[in-house]
Amino acid sequence: MALNVVMLGPPGAGKGTQAERFAREYALPKISTGDILREAVQSGSELGQQVKVVMERGELVSDALITGIVSERLSRPDVAGGFVLDGFPRTVPQAEALDALVAGGDPLIVVEMKVPDEELVRRVQGRRVCKVCGTNVSAFGGDPANVQRCEKCGGELVSRSDDTEAVVRERLKIYWRDTRPIIAYYGGRPTFRSIDGAQTPEQVRQALIGAVSEVAAAAGLPDVKGAAGLSADEGVGA
Ligand code: AP5
Repeated sequence: MALNVVMLGPPGAGKGTQAERFAREYALPKISTGDILREAVQSGSELGQQVKVVMERGELVSDALITGIVSERLSRPDVAGGFVLDGFPRTVPQAEALDALVAGGDPLIVVEMKVPDEELVRRVQGRRVCKVCGTNVSAFGGDPANVQRCEKCGGELVSRSDDTEAVVRERLKIYWRDTRPIIAYYGGRPTFRSIDGAQTPEQVRQALIGAVSEVAAAAGLPDVKGAAGLSADEGVGA
């Protein structure tokens, strides 16, 4: 049986942070469309050249392109036990395409993370990312100028090019226009849950595990809560 988790939420809601932890705890592959596209941009591949400007403007790449990428990723054997999707779907056509991709399999467990817009803008502007290993760091709690090196690998910490205030506000506008309608698309399903993402990272983690666990139990999937392996105090720092 597969644990197919979809994380929904606006930019800066904490999808990536929580998806990474959840995937690690449950030994599932984390599939982040943002990460896949950023890697392509960094490598200078044809795909990267195609999407760079779109991403820098905070706009969405085409449904056809991103659905093709996810379709290929979900065809790999490592998703047999499930996956954690971060950043996909982002439009109703993408949600419909995902339903078609998983048709006949275990249900999608869809979790929406809700965070007020102004907190999102604050978080995204404070995000730093390691140029080498991609680790995400929050600059809050100290002088952002001091957040220069990655604790994991020593790589340089930089802001994402789409994390300026102007671009974040554009991303939020697009979220409310194009992505928010998928909440209505999934909202009536018994496998949909909404959680408060404006809590501490550890509280959000607990809420996420609780939501997935509830849905999984109702769907006859294995116990989720009992499988969580990390200690409760392993936070991401905010
Ligand atoms: P993507 O990378 O998916 O960006 P996003 O959805 O805008 O999400 P973010 O990565 O900004 O935020 P997040 O929710 O993951 O938050 P995080 O955990 O990092 O996509 C980038 C671009 O790629 C798109 O704009 C588009 O162009 C393209 N794209 C990708 N997928 C696409 C698709 N399906 N269709 C079309 N185009 C697509 O947290 C943010 C910060 O807050 C961090 O600093 C973190 O440390 C901190 N933080 C996390 N949790 C908390 C907390 N609880 N309290 C305080 N701070 C916290």
